[in-house]
Amino acid sequence: MPENSSLENLLTETRSFPPSPEFAAQANAQAGMYDEARADRLAFWAKQANELLTWKTPFTQTLDWSDAPVARWFADGTLNAAYNAVDRHVEAGRGDRVAIHFEGEPGDTRTVTYADLQREVSRAANAIAALGVESGDRVVIYLPMLVESVVAMLACARLGAPHSVVFGGFSADALRSRIADAEAKLVITADGGYRRGAPSALKPAVDEALEPRDGEAPTTVEHVLVVKRTGQDTAWTEGRDIWWDDALESADVRHEPVWVEAEHPLYILHTSGTTGKPKGILHTTGGYLTQAAFTHKNVFDLKAETDVYWCTADIGWVTGHSYVVYGPLINGATQLIYEGTPDTPHRGRWWELVEKYKVSILYTAPTAIRTCMKWGEDIPAKFDLSSLRVLGSVGEPINPEAWMWYRRVIGGDKAPIVDTWWQTETGAIMISPLPGVTATKPGSAQVPLPGIVADVVDDEAHSVPNGGGGYLVLSEPWPSMLRGIWGDLERYKDTYWSRFPGIYFAGDGAKKDDDGDIWLLGRVDDVMNVSGHRLSTTEIESALVSHEIVAEAAVVGAADETTGQAVVAFVILRGEHADRAATEDGSTEVQTALRNHVAKEIGPIAKPRRILVVPELPKTRSGKIMRRLLRDVAENRTVGDATTLADSSVMDLISAGLAGPAASSED
Ligand code: WTA
Repeated sequence: MPENSSLENLLTETRSFPPSPEFAAQANAQAGMYDEARADRLAFWAKQANELLTWKTPFTQTLDWSDAPVARWFADGTLNAAYNAVDRHVEAGRGDRVAIHFEGEPGDTRTVTYADLQREVSRAANAIAALGVESGDRVVIYLPMLVESVVAMLACARLGAPHSVVFGGFSADALRSRIADAEAKLVITADGGYRRGAPSALKPAVDEALEPRDGEAPTTVEHVLVVKRTGQDTAWTEGRDIWWDDALESADVRHEPVWVEAEHPLYILHTSGTTGKPKGILHTTGGYLTQAAFTHKNVFDLKAETDVYWCTADIGWVTGHSYVVYGPLINGATQLIYEGTPDTPHRGRWWELVEKYKVSILYTAPTAIRTCMKWGEDIPAKFDLSSLRVLGSVGEPINPEAWMWYRRVIGGDKAPIVDTWWQTETGAIMISPLPGVTATKPGSAQVPLPGIVADVVDDEAHSVPNGGGGYLVLSEPWPSMLRGIWGDLERYKDTYWSRFPGIYFAGDGAKKDDDGDIWLLGRVDDVMNVSGHRLSTTEIESALVSHEIVAEAAVVGAADETTGQAVVAFVILRGEHADRAATEDGSTEVQTALRNHVAKEIGPIAKPRRILVVPELPKTRSGKIMRRLLRDVAENRTVGDATTLADSSVMDLISAGLAGPAASSED
């Protein structure tokens, strides 16, 4: 059973919020969908694929699972993602509908209609093709939240060139390894973006990531397209670097989409796993788009003509892929994209935007909600939030207190909350209430969507009874499932399909309540969840030990009121550095050096909140670090059962050492 005692009390939750009759009467989702999908799951998905997408060549086969665990959905159909997201809306006479209201952090705005988007995506596709990118070539996108980011992704999709978006907060080193893993031909970036009121450079990280390094193969990247956002001074490599505007200016506004097979790769997105090396999750076209569109329409109850939808995720994460780019645009939605942070220039910025654009559907993360709770409800109270009619949550379990606050303060006690469970690997939402159908419960994602088969099982893969806990698994293939890990089929099989043969193991612990509703309890592997971002303990440990003063490191995620979990590192230092760290100055120095080092290796989001210098690490006789005991220390709990340690006095040594000089820092 996963250990997560702080979440145990969730199952005592008895509040339930049935949909209002008014909402239910107008809802896209209908209760009958569950039965329909249960009666014939494949027919259900085939119907969605036909209704929600426009196919160049219709498919005749829904699922081919003969090569399991690599699925083929709608495999003999052909289509194009960008055509579905843009052109067909224009062809249907909806070119004047706003696709994107863009709001920059400094307050600059831009309105982009579907017709505008068609011109810009076509131009970009022509410009990218002129740089030699062809169907199947990989393009890395390293950009802030801009209209150009969406355009760049769609332009790649239009060419059949899989994109690999790298979150703009990742470091040059992280970018370098992702470029190398994808063997990208082109990088699309910007001079910089606005962050907390100031321009923040981005291009220097690309320059550094592309520099030749001894012992490494030369880069496959031929060109760098640079969006001008901040106008800051930018180093330039003649022949390689090209301004986005220059390239687009001379490009034709017409472009014939490249029709691809349904299983053609749409994108790679790297995510943290249980080993040091991030996994390039591969998604393909037809099945992915079907489920992204289906979930976006039904889970958020989207009415494309009247809603203004806002998902606050960055395009660097899967939520940005499925619920900023593909889901909403396939459905012809009008959405808001905001470049900056919620506290710039003031802590009411998000709510000001909701009021200004009359946002009706908001999709965000529990960490953001908890931060707003901390800032106080008088801030959102200053704005008119009455336009909001559906609220979504994603990224980590939402605690009932935050759920209730979200419902009352942001949703005016009327907007249904959909707590959506899914992963980079699942591509789209898997478990969630359906607004207008499900009576919601604070803190539970509740039920698998129609067409999805999920369960909670014990160690032997037996379904647990209601009231029991275990591991979340997905027992049947689904359209938007990952098709593998880029370049590593074995790792794909090992990671997801070996724990319980034949069924997909998600890595999450879960419980079923007395009604059979599912409650997610957090990861049961070495993956942490900090502010809804996935971080690998092993990856941060590798970063720490790559610093010359570190001999050994162990990282755990400790419960944190706002960010869900916080990174806490235990390090053993080499020789004299340990003595130095025992002094007050030395301790601060070591903390700063190591935290900066992790930021350089991975990115600022991975910086440990606390670094504890210890003389030993608790290990089993087989040498495995017992993170459970370290988590006890990090969460200031009495240390649990330490009898399986090779040397049981280690925990005493660690606890004694921690009474020394202040060993934490924050930013
Ligand atoms: C966690 C983000 C509880 C979970 C879309 C999962 C959640 C991981 C929820 C995937 C939720 C996501 N309730 N936990 N509603 N949503 N998670 O790949 O641990 O960044 O395995 O995808 O986030 O994170 P990822």
